[in-house]
Amino acid sequence: MEYKIKDISLAEQGRKKIDWAESRMPVLMNLRKEFANTKPLEGMRIAGCLHVTKETAVLVETLISAGAELSWSGCNPLSTKDDIAAALAANNIPIFAWYGMSTEEFYWAIDKVLEFKPTLTLDDGADLIFRVHSEFPELSEDIIGGTEETTTGVHRLRAMERASKLLYPIIAVNDAETKSDFDNVYGTGQSTLDGVLRSTNIIIAGKIVVIAGYGHCGKGLAKNGSGIGADIIVTEVNPIQALKAAMDGFRVMKMDDAAKVGDLFITATGMKDILVKSHFENMKDGAIICNTGHYDVEINITDLENLAKSKREIRENNEEYTLQNGNKIYLLAKGRLVNLSAAEGHPSEVMDMSFANQLLSLIYLKEKSAILEKRVYDISREQDEKIAGLKLELMGYQIDKLTEEQEKYKDAYFEGT
Ligand SMILES: NC(=O)c1ccc[n+]([C@@H]2O[C@H](COP(=O)([O-])OP(=O)(O)OC[C@H]3O[C@@H](n4cnc5c(N)ncnc54)[C@H](O)[C@@H]3O)[C@@H](O)[C@H]2O)c1
Repeated sequence: MEYKIKDISLAEQGRKKIDWAESRMPVLMNLRKEFANTKPLEGMRIAGCLHVTKETAVLVETLISAGAELSWSGCNPLSTKDDIAAALAANNIPIFAWYGMSTEEFYWAIDKVLEFKPTLTLDDGADLIFRVHSEFPELSEDIIGGTEETTTGVHRLRAMERASKLLYPIIAVNDAETKSDFDNVYGTGQSTLDGVLRSTNIIIAGKIVVIAGYGHCGKGLAKNGSGIGADIIVTEVNPIQALKAAMDGFRVMKMDDAAKVGDLFITATGMKDILVKSHFENMKDGAIICNTGHYDVEINITDLENLAKSKREIRENNEEYTLQNGNKIYLLAKGRLVNLSAAEGHPSEVMDMSFANQLLSLIYLKEKSAILEKRVYDISREQDEKIAGLKLELMGYQIDKLTEEQEKYKDAYFEGT
């Protein structure tokens, strides 16, 4: 079995973290138990490209227990947890990932995973899928489908679908309500601040925190930030999202104006060039900037480098740029996902639902491969509700059920006052 990781001696430490994650992921562990006997993924070869965290390890080992073989790479050069990669390698899983990979090494790792000749792909950001389409289209003959974990990846794949370029069916796991309304909102909302705290140890209370994008992630961030005393400013391009932010009680303004007053800036848009030269020039001395969107394009680092007369790493994941005007700007995690680069990513409890969606979607792709087209599919309402129901039950909550009379009333149009 081939693998390339940083240090296999970290395996024991990684295993303990995986054990901890398992104890926080009851939905996935229940499904693991259910599928260990039936092996619905028997015969499937899964190529995975997703952040190597303890939660991902629980998913990986669940897929194996459901009968799949797999090969794995990370989906971001700075998000791999080396002890988790070691624990997976020690468990005979072909894995090609380490913290601090160069761009060249990143694509080398994806290509190694593709040597495995998959029948299913699992992506976070669509880099592996895109690699199949651009470099190895012949592999698609054996691939019956793929899943996509994040908003940016789904946008990319829907664009490929519109251009009739998709070579196999995709399930947009991100768009499940039990994924994006929880993982992106509560997961990113909390873990992004965790990343900021680990790389700065600032107090958030009393800070002016500018959040770019009031979608799923931005909304969660604003709620968490204001909960610990931040004065939140939201920037948006979508009037409906901006209105929601205003009515949720946050100040809304253009980035040109927010740049002058913010203490901490967090981009969460999936769009490029959210913070550029003119913003850096206008920022207060000591401003902190970071990103939690999928790619490192939201903060224009070239602009920042060009404005700077010097830079140094002042803390782990925290670089101090001294501008020509004498002001200092602190860039966290090199503008990459701060929650995964500087902290541990989303808490296990919320990844429980996201990864249950991944597992069920891969099984669905196997079962329905004969009828699926080269399109991006949403997951079914049934799957969403099954996962929400299981999670609630395992959290110890019970809910009401419509009575027969209420069921009739729901669909009736003739009953008024
Ligand atoms: N850090 C993580 O672990 C994590 C988790 C989930 C998603 N993501 C990533 O975070 C990003 C956002 O995801 P989401 O689910 O919140 O997406 P979303 O589509 O729900 O929200 C994005 C918001 O950004 C706004 N926006 C776009 N361009 C903008 C601009 N120039 N200025 C201000 N606002 C702008 C959009 O109008 C939208 O409201 C994506 O890249 C996604 O892949 C990261």
